[in-house]
Amino acid sequence: MVKTAVVSIVMIIVACVGWSGMPSDASGAAGAKTPESSKGKRIFSRHCAGCHGAEGKGDGYKLLGPDPANLTAPATRKKPDSALLTTIHEGKPNMPSWKGILSDHDIQSVLAYIRTLPH
Ligand code: HEC
Repeated sequence: MVKTAVVSIVMIIVACVGWSGMPSDASGAAGAKTPESSKGKRIFSRHCAGCHGAEGKGDGYKLLGPDPANLTAPATRKKPDSALLTTIHEGKPNMPSWKGILSDHDIQSVLAYIRTLPH
């Protein structure tokens, strides 16, 4: 499917930007509330920030179709962990499924980080 191909290409771009452009954790201390969320921050910078933006506000790449969610919006903050974990596991239109790529533990860490994002 075309959409799948587009998402794959974006993921490659995100991966490249993530590998080369992110100083791994030099500035990580500020927003990190727990060891869990600071690990999640590294995962987020590498895999999620390309679409969701460095601060999760949904200001990364825009593709045709649904825009990346603003993860700091009240609508997302109100959703239970279980709902967000399902989205991260299964993906959405324009969002890849992460279950084969990240471990359950990594997905928990990245959600812990999302929960610390400033509104
Ligand atoms: C290729 C772009 C892309 C990447 C990479 C991406 N997302 Fe998404 N994400 C989206 C889009 C687009 C939506 C909204 C889908 C919709 O509204 O149907 C979304 C929605 C979400 C939601 C649901 C928000 C809500 O309010 O229900 C969560 C949580 C989320 N993403 C987390 C992540 C995490 C964590 C990562 C990294 C592991 C990630 N995303 C990587 C595009 C992306």
